[in-house]
Order: sequence, then structure tokens, then C-alpha cells
Amino acid sequence: MVASWPEPIVSVQALSQTGLSTVPDRYVKPAHQRPVYNSDQSGLDMEVPVLDMRDVWRKPEGLKRVRNACEEWGFFQVVNHGVDHALMESVRGAWREFFDLPVEVKRKYANSPDTYEGYGSRIGVVKDAKLDWSDYFFLNYLPSSIRNPSKWPSQPPKIRELIEEYGEEVRKLCEKLVETLSESLGLEPNHLMKAFGGEDKVGANLRANFYPKCPQPHLTLGLSSHSDPGGITIVLPDEKVAGLQVRRGDCWVTIKSVPNALIVNIGDQVQILSNGIYKSVEHQVVVNSGMDRVSLALFYNPRSDIPIGPVKELLTEDRPALYKPIRFDEYRLLIRQKGPSGKNQVDSLLAST
Ligand code: OGA
Ligand code: NI
Repeated sequence: MVASWPEPIVSVQALSQTGLSTVPDRYVKPAHQRPVYNSDQSGLDMEVPVLDMRDVWRKPEGLKRVRNACEEWGFFQVVNHGVDHALMESVRGAWREFFDLPVEVKRKYANSPDTYEGYGSRIGVVKDAKLDWSDYFFLNYLPSSIRNPSKWPSQPPKIRELIEEYGEEVRKLCEKLVETLSESLGLEPNHLMKAFGGEDKVGANLRANFYPKCPQPHLTLGLSSHSDPGGITIVLPDEKVAGLQVRRGDCWVTIKSVPNALIVNIGDQVQILSNGIYKSVEHQVVVNSGMDRVSLALFYNPRSDIPIGPVKELLTEDRPALYKPIRFDEYRLLIRQKGPSGKNQVDSLLAST
């Protein structure tokens, strides 16, 4: 396992604050990866579905809409999700304050590529790779045995408490969502959670993302195109600044976030468990020249030490198992070594390859 970065780490926020007028070459993406903005494709619905938890939770009609969103988009926004709106605002504000601390303070939490825990500015260890226009803080949340708040920021003063409070509320939402996904696949309500290894054994990580404003946003990306390796992801977006784009056929659709909504997306493990019925869809983040953007992603993952493969009840003669089972810890290692790569990584597990 690689223990250090191949090049010195540069805080993108600090770089942006120098007021530079061009993007350094390290961040200039090749032409085919540069952002494209919604080119309207007639006929196709171009808005990520918005679901109300009160309409979908244990409601047959609602479950159909969940299924449709997960098959078609791999993404939806959810409202009436049960997470307190004031808490969402406070935790996002606390992270904003953390990123606004001097870079010397944040460097005390500098991460390394063996665990990624802490403050960082790159993903992947490939030397001379083109980098993303963002900084982040990554921490372990579940199982509680690997939670180590002493590695979390200690400033602003309330941030650790807020992370725990927010984490608890999102954990409850994830439990409901996993049940909802299970039912929407036609499985028993607790089937998918059992396949995840049980609610007291699941894993969760939090990543706070900071996307500084950028002098030439059309040349770079805040986060390169990727699919999330885990189970499901809950994104708390910036309240003012859009940037998350979802792949839709040959287009990229920018999510217009509904006030107080959370964004939910299917990760590779749910694609595997559902035998490809639900899609872990590629997404990326674009930046802009006017405003910084903050987002919080909570990754809710299956237990990492059990094989994850397609659920038997979803296999048919016409649709045999598409993927070979793999443990999540092994899968994550593969991805961390490779760094972000556009193509949905799960394809490397195709049973036919
Ligand atoms: C991620 C991610 C989206 C965002 O952290 O995996 O896709 O809006 N984040 O920051
Ligand atoms: Ni993501």
C-alpha cells in the first residue's frame, strides 16, 4: 500500500486565493474531459427526479417512482427526508468555516493515500496525473469502532458535535432508503439491509468537499467523472451554487437543487446487489469563476468484510448473475489505487470478463 503522495500537495483553495488569472497546467483537463453544459436533447426528461419521502416510504405507487429513478437516473433528490433543515445549514456552515481557516491549520490534518482520512487535495497516486479543482476532508463515521473524532477538525468549536448529529440523522435516513430500495426491487423490506451485512455492521464515511472559484472553469473540473464505489450516497449540496452534473446518455445534466432537499445516488455496490437493475451513474462537478462551493457527501456502504454479489432472488434464466462477488474492502482498494476514472468501475467485475 502506498503511504505517500507522488508530488507535494497544493491546497487548491490557497491557489485560488492568490487571485491567479489562469489555471495551472496540472488542472487543465484534456479537451474530451472538459465540462459540457446541458445541451437540450429533445424527448428526454432532463431533470433529476424529486421524490417526497412521505409519498414513497412503504407506498406501492411511490416505490414505482423510486424504481424508475434508480433504473433511469441512478439519482434522485429527496424532500421531507427527516433531516433537520437547520442542522443541514449548521453543518455546512461549520465546514465552510473549517475550510476558511489558514492553510497551516488545515495541514495539521493532512491525509495520506493509505486511509485518505483527513484533509486532502487529490485522489489517486498516479504521478503527473491531472488534478481536480477542489480540496476535501474525509472521515470515517461507521462502524463506530473506526470512528475517531480526534482526527476530525477541532475548529470551529461545534464542528465535531455537528458532524455526529448530522451523521445520526443521515444514518436513519439511509436505513429507510435501503428498506425503500429493497421493496422497490420487489424484495422483502429487510432483504437489502441483510445483504449489506446488517445495520449495525454497515460502514459510512463523510467527505466535505470545497470547490474554490476558478479563473477558467471551462478548462477543469471540481471533481472528475466517477461513480461512487459504495452502497448509496447522500449529498448535501451548496445552498446557492450548483455544480453537480449527472451523466444522461451523451449529456451532462446539472442538478438544480430544490431548497432543503438532499441528493441520493446509487453506488456500485447497489448496482452489483441489484444485478444491474439499479445503475451507479457517473457524475462530476463543474466549478465557476464567481463563487466557492461546499458540499457534504455521506457514503453509506455495506459491511466491508463479506462478499457482495447479486441478490439470488433477482436472478432469472434470462438475467443470470452479471457480476462476480467481491468484498467492499477489496473493491475500494482497487479504486483507490486507480484514482477516479470515468467509466463505471463495476464493469471490471462483469462475470463474462
Ligand atoms: C462525491 C461527489 C458531489 C458534490 O463526493 O463523490 O460526487 O456535489 N460529490 O460534491
Ligand atoms: Ni460521487
